[in-house]
Amino acid sequence: MNPLKHVAIIMDGNGRWGLKKKKSRNAGHRAGLNTVEKIIKETIKNNIKFLTLYAFSTENWKRPKKEIKFLFNLLEFFLKDKIEDLNKQKIKLKIIGKKNFSPELNHLLRVSEKKTSKNKRLQINLALNYGSKAELINAFKELKKRNEAINEKNLKKYLQSNNTPDPDLLIRTGDTKRLSNFLLWQLAYSEIFFEKKLWPDFNEKDYNKIIKKYKNIKRNFGNI
Ligand code: FPP
Repeated sequence: MNPLKHVAIIMDGNGRWGLKKKKSRNAGHRAGLNTVEKIIKETIKNNIKFLTLYAFSTENWKRPKKEIKFLFNLLEFFLKDKIEDLNKQKIKLKIIGKKNFSPELNHLLRVSEKKTSKNKRLQINLALNYGSKAELINAFKELKKRNEAINEKNLKKYLQSNNTPDPDLLIRTGDTKRLSNFLLWQLAYSEIFFEKKLWPDFNEKDYNKIIKKYKNIKRNFGNI
């Protein structure tokens, strides 16, 4: 059985879910947050140590202002409401992506990271304003600035995931098969599962089914 240390998730399909329910795209995001909470609980139950969630990409800025505002309000609400609880559950929160939001949100993100920084049960990497290409370019710039050799070990030091093992498993919900500029380096040998369900409909049972399948895959890492 394969060990499972790190699950990464592209939580796709909120907007479509909201519209399918004859509500709004934003109603889909709100429902998506419930799934986030369920999946965090289930991740702990499965004793998985790292969970990376793609919440907002560098490309998502192209969306209507109203939707962007809603998403960040939702994030603010979530952190203000839940950070104590996450801390009690010994969850560490780390933001990956560039924190160039409003001064208030930047502050809230920093405070949340600091408060939970010593926790060891589960690390949640929340990808916000994250793009893998930008992350890689930044890492190469750091190498150049320090005149360090270009090799895997050195490059990894400057990725934002530097304290996280590469994902063993990537799940993308929403019946779309693409990586959308997410962890392009780190996913080199991950097992990838594309799930038909939209993110708000994804549940613990679906998650455990994927975990079970993953555990039984023969992982070769290039070997035979
Ligand atoms: C992709 O669905 C989802 C997002 C861009 C946002 C993800 C946000 C959440 C799951 C809720 C908020 C989470 C936190 C941690 C506050 P989409 O809108 O692209 O769906 P579509 O493909 O149906 O348009």
